[in-house]
Amino acid sequence: MGVIDSTNTEAQRRAKAGHIENCWLVAESQTAGRGRLQRPWLSSSGNLFSSAFFREPGGISIAARLPFATALAVSDMAAIIAPGAPVKLKWPNDARVNQAKLSGILIETGGQGQDFWVVAGIGINIAECPEGTSQATTCIHDLRGDTLISAEDALSVLRETFARRLEQARQSFEPLREDWLKVAEGLGETVRVTVSDSPVEGVFEDMAPDGALILRLPNGERQMIRAGDVSLIGR
Ligand code: BTN
Repeated sequence: MGVIDSTNTEAQRRAKAGHIENCWLVAESQTAGRGRLQRPWLSSSGNLFSSAFFREPGGISIAARLPFATALAVSDMAAIIAPGAPVKLKWPNDARVNQAKLSGILIETGGQGQDFWVVAGIGINIAECPEGTSQATTCIHDLRGDTLISAEDALSVLRETFARRLEQARQSFEPLREDWLKVAEGLGETVRVTVSDSPVEGVFEDMAPDGALILRLPNGERQMIRAGDVSLIGR
């Protein structure tokens, strides 16, 4: 696929029209790439824009694990193609290196029962670090230093790491949760989480068995965060 509005949007269109089987959609560039929280996702040349589409008989309970499984698939891929890069995962599913964003993930679902489907949209900065974004960015080329790798080659590694993590997600959440916590950014530190435009600060204490971020508030209470945007403070 060359230029398209968004691989996630295209997968959804095909799913709604009943014209898609389990597959990966990949674009050279996107004209309307979408990120989490209604943000745009820039299309810098040579980067990877892909969506894994699949039917998921496990329904929403498995889909809820996929932000973490997919982020781990990206960090597994980075360990192979950019070994030694200190990739960390920011809740729920950003992959970052030294607080610069390497990858973003947008999980979308639809259908019901046997027709329940998932689109796991994965954008990875391979050749270019997009500029003009709200946070710093990095890319695989910068992490590898000298030798280049194509988005296509990165994708073939990602497809394998993703298949393994998806299988793990279908079995149980606990091993994924443990792996995710090992590379969690900001764990044990004070973070600011913006929930519906309101910031709340506290110590990022743990991730709950359902994937919620557990925040210890200054008054000692615990708050479970199920949607929001995390930023590290005091670094
Ligand atoms: C985020 O960090 O906000 C998530 C970004 C997800 C971007 C990918 S690129 C491929 C797929 N198509 C889209 O429109 N979005 C995802």
